[in-house]
Amino acid sequence: RRLLPLIAVFGMVLAGCGREDLSVLRPQGPAAESSLGLMKLAISIMIVVLLIVFSIAAYVMIRFRRKPGQNGIPEQTHGSFKLEVLWTVIPLILVIVLAVPTVRTVFALGDNHSGDKNAIKVKVTGHQYWWEFEYPDYGIKTAQDLIIPAGKDIAFELTTNDVLHSFWVPSLSGKIDTNPTGATNRFSFSAPKEGVFRGKCAELCGPSHGFMEFKVKAVSNDEFNQWIEAQKAPAVLPEDPALAKTFKEQCLKCHAVGDQGLSVGPNLTGIGSRESVAGILLNDDTRQDGAPVEENLKTWLHDTQGVKPGNLMPDPKQDMGLSDDEIDRIAEYLAGYKLN
Ligand code: CUA
Repeated sequence: RRLLPLIAVFGMVLAGCGREDLSVLRPQGPAAESSLGLMKLAISIMIVVLLIVFSIAAYVMIRFRRKPGQNGIPEQTHGSFKLEVLWTVIPLILVIVLAVPTVRTVFALGDNHSGDKNAIKVKVTGHQYWWEFEYPDYGIKTAQDLIIPAGKDIAFELTTNDVLHSFWVPSLSGKIDTNPTGATNRFSFSAPKEGVFRGKCAELCGPSHGFMEFKVKAVSNDEFNQWIEAQKAPAVLPEDPALAKTFKEQCLKCHAVGDQGLSVGPNLTGIGSRESVAGILLNDDTRQDGAPVEENLKTWLHDTQGVKPGNLMPDPKQDMGLSDDEIDRIAEYLAGYKLN
């Protein structure tokens, strides 16, 4: 009966592994598969060591237990050269068996593992609490949805704009930190098939760390090229001149759309086509936890601190002086800003 709460906790932990799109146990690409291989190796070794140590402990407890009529302290042994050597050499061998494939895999996943000259370069920048993706070869920037062609190697360069974050797409690869020291981390992965893969920040970075989500959207080569072209197209501004003026004066002080605005906050080009608003409000009312993009944008713009506490965006009403109606109409305009 005492074990019951323990089993319940263990069950809940295992249930968390059930989410297919956020599980390292269901790798969807070569990088994640090699990480899982390492985990399996380490766990196998641990199980063997555990079984041997527990068996010896059980044997010793039974074999040398105090027997009836036995009094006083039994014969004591101090030091054994043979045993000292044995329990130094065995762990050393285990460490080598673990270290060689681990180091090899880490180096293989670094930079550009296939040596593919055509790997697509993506610069990832962590921000409290959103992700910026820059494609230097195409001269474009986007946020929250990382669009990649399926089957192609993506060579990442990772930095942060503020604190330590960690870029993690569990089904595609291991975690990699974005360092505030100025050091750039490099690694690569590919998504073998088209689909949407969930990503998370895996390093505690502030009150909204848990909401620092992003999506990796793997598309066909053609779709990828179309997306690049659409990103490069001139900005689409609100049709109403008064609203366009407000949008330019207020929103474009930090954000960019197309060829206009600044890259302080997330790039908003084609935001209506994204998988989510702010990374966590899912844009799809066909999903149980989703809602139409327009509704999500209104939720966000009317209460950014409620959605993502501690985020750095000024409040549209309090700080920028926008009316509720203006906020609604900007949400509608952004929802309609689609790339196709
Ligand atoms: Cu960024 Cu946690």
